[in-house]
Amino acid sequence: MGAHSVRATQKKASAMSAKRSIFEEVSSAEQARPTAQPGLIDKGRTGARRAIRAWLMLLFVLVVVMIAVGGLTRLTDSGLSITEWRPITGALPPMSAAEWEAEFEKYKAIDEFRIQNQWMEIDDFKVIYWWEWGHRQLGRVIGLVWAVGFFGFLLARRIPPGRDGLVLPILGFAGFGALIGAEVALNQGALAEPLVRQIEVGALVFMGLVAALGLLSRSQDWTAKLLFVGFLGGLQGSIGWWMVASGVTSGEGMVDVASYRLATHLGLAFIILGVLAWYVFELGRTERDLMQARREKEAKQFGLSTGLLHFAFLQILIGALVAGIDAGRSYTDWPLMGGQVLPASAFTLEPVWRNFFESPGLVQFIHRVTGYLLLVFGIIVWLRGRRSAHARTRFAFNAVMAALLLQIALGIMTVVYAAPWQMAILHQFLAVVLWVLILRARFLSAYPVASSVREGMKA
Ligand code: HEM
Repeated sequence: MGAHSVRATQKKASAMSAKRSIFEEVSSAEQARPTAQPGLIDKGRTGARRAIRAWLMLLFVLVVVMIAVGGLTRLTDSGLSITEWRPITGALPPMSAAEWEAEFEKYKAIDEFRIQNQWMEIDDFKVIYWWEWGHRQLGRVIGLVWAVGFFGFLLARRIPPGRDGLVLPILGFAGFGALIGAEVALNQGALAEPLVRQIEVGALVFMGLVAALGLLSRSQDWTAKLLFVGFLGGLQGSIGWWMVASGVTSGEGMVDVASYRLATHLGLAFIILGVLAWYVFELGRTERDLMQARREKEAKQFGLSTGLLHFAFLQILIGALVAGIDAGRSYTDWPLMGGQVLPASAFTLEPVWRNFFESPGLVQFIHRVTGYLLLVFGIIVWLRGRRSAHARTRFAFNAVMAALLLQIALGIMTVVYAAPWQMAILHQFLAVVLWVLILRARFLSAYPVASSVREGMKA
């Protein structure tokens, strides 16, 4: 069938579905309305949708900058310079020479200074302090932008209506998160906590997140969704401190944060970014358009892109482990590692499982191999995506493929040049781009943009 006749068939199909069912799947409140005027669902809401979308885009940009500043904080080895967690009062940096001196004294008490940075003078200390302070301050700004936007829209009643009772569970979940945050703050997130307990808490938080995301993905409740964004931000702040706390030890010999915690922190940053991007995609189209588009969902392609999304997330977490233990600098040859396929130092730690997370040779090896497998799977998904009936979707999958190839090439260069900060930060940034492009291809598989629908909207 030629492209023209495909389009003609789609046009016919969507014209029929538009006639048939604009109001069929709307929530009960909307069903009660008279059904004669197309476009009523979005009436009075478009303004809010646009403004909320712009606000979420601002948050998205801020989170991208936050990830970059976080990466640079790590790459300049600045992350442990502020040894306390003061979410509110910490907004003011040291103002006088005496205050700087006091902060420096606190830093001198931790292992990183004693083992690695004895050479530092106050001016060197200020440099690493400003990086970490900038990262945390940006976190406060993001929190403020969220709070002003959320409560502003809420009070002005500009959040699209439609409740399905999810606000309470999200609030409950937020309460649980706040308890964990308080616990982390009180205990300084000490590494000495039994590992089993840390894993239990981690698993609970993870399950809660998955459940909340699952519920919200089917929800029309924008109040709950936007509240959830704020909750994720708060949780990220707590996890940030939980991570830093693992490195500000005295007498335990830690000179960096625990790499598992770094991976958790980076993983949640990508989740936040993904949630924001998805909501921006949703708000970029009218509810009516989305409802129509849903009928043309390309299920197989959607499933494959969901798989790719999870696979890429795994690779991002492994990448954070590589970065966290500086494994990018341990083997700088490619395609082999130290002249062998599996590096000689892969299994030097005891017990064996620790090597999978902490042995630089093995962790870098896993990141490489997973990268190649991701490429193979990416090609399969791309070939399928190219068969989509919708031009925009095909283009979205092409963009995923291009970003994936670029990311692999950059990863190899990062290895060969022993992870200089410019390449490492670009590799991290491209991971962000790839992540968002995969989400976009997935979104367009779920809600294809048929040219007929767009023409219909313009009319
Ligand atoms: C295929 C997709 C890939 C993705 C999505 C990906 C993602 C990531 C991420 C998110 C990080 C952590 C960055 C940070 O936190 O600063 C990372 C680190 C790293 N990746 Fe990849 N990566 C990919 C492929 C590769 C490949 C194929 C190689 C090498 C052959 C590679 C080599 C590295 C190195 C050396 C680092 C550590 C850089 C540092 O120390 O900051 N990556 N990767």
